[in-house]
Amino acid sequence: MTVNRKKTAKNKPYPSKPASRGRQQGRSGRGKQNPAQKAAKPMKPAAKPKKPRTETKESSPHTQNIQWFPGHMTKTKRQIERDLRLVDAVAEILDARIPVSSRNPDIAALTADKPRLILLNKCDMADVNATKRWVDALTTENTRAIPVDCKSGKGVDRFVPALSELLSARIAAYRAKGMLNPTVRVMIVGIPNVGKSTLINRLAGRNKANSADRPGVTRGNQWFTVAKGFELLDTPGVLWPKFDDQTVGERLAFTGAIKDNIMDMELLAIRLLDLLKELKTPQFIERYALTDDDLTLPSYELLSVIAAHRGMLISGGEPDTERASAAILDEFRAAKLGRITLELP
Ligand code: G4P
Repeated sequence: MTVNRKKTAKNKPYPSKPASRGRQQGRSGRGKQNPAQKAAKPMKPAAKPKKPRTETKESSPHTQNIQWFPGHMTKTKRQIERDLRLVDAVAEILDARIPVSSRNPDIAALTADKPRLILLNKCDMADVNATKRWVDALTTENTRAIPVDCKSGKGVDRFVPALSELLSARIAAYRAKGMLNPTVRVMIVGIPNVGKSTLINRLAGRNKANSADRPGVTRGNQWFTVAKGFELLDTPGVLWPKFDDQTVGERLAFTGAIKDNIMDMELLAIRLLDLLKELKTPQFIERYALTDDDLTLPSYELLSVIAAHRGMLISGGEPDTERASAAILDEFRAAKLGRITLELP
């Protein structure tokens, strides 16, 4: 994800511990265990079988502790601090579906003195009205926000005009000092997988930066000319949000920002179903042929219903909830269950 970006084990944002129950897990016994019981188990591979917890289905929280060790954060923060003096503004990319959870809170603190352009990326998958609300909520004297879909390029043409407007006083000051064609320099920041490479490719031309198939790669300090008088500085290193709040990790996981094999996909799908049941988008209901009664079921039962409706069965005719979980998450991530924003201002 850097220009000539190479992935190295060193800068992977995840621990390389084996998955306890990710997609790579063996499939023996799938569909037989109540996921509500699994929720009570730790994510680490169990040395010996554990007794099921006695909590009721209703009281089971269905949550998992999503954790990893974001290495190089300190180094990255130091580098950002050092490079800030080189730029006039910061362009911060957020995921329009989760503008809060996809934000590294340190970035705001580090870059507080700089004018900021916020790009609500992947807006093609977010709810249109929610994105409008976010644009309004995020816009202040020193901050502008624009929705973009870097994949198709929609909205990217507003990048330079929005910066020109945000920095109009600064550009005028440069001119007043006799600089007829001042160069405006902007630092790009954003968590892995949010679309930095895709944006740079769009702005700076094809193949200037390689999109990666997974989040987290080292970046070198690299400048790109994106328009006459506008240069971008690609941020080195990785910056993740802090996970003090577990919902942050969960929402990042829903959107695919966190590698699936460190998580229990069934628990994740159940948590997502908790939200989808409330939202009741037509796409969700139609895709899984759900009745009103289905929508009142506990989510782990709804998962089995969806597996059955999809014909995802294991031998013996039991629902293959593991396959159904992967399908639900994949389809949510591809916006096939509707354009959904999980966080509102
Ligand atoms: P990063 O540098 O911040 O780590 O992110 P990167 O550009 O590599 O983008 C991560 C994934 O998000 C890529 O998908 C990319 O295509 C996708 N993406 C980026 N912007 C948008 C957007 O506005 N809308 C949508 N729908 N997707 C976007 P991928 O599956 O990892 O790669 P690829 O199959 O697209 O090559």
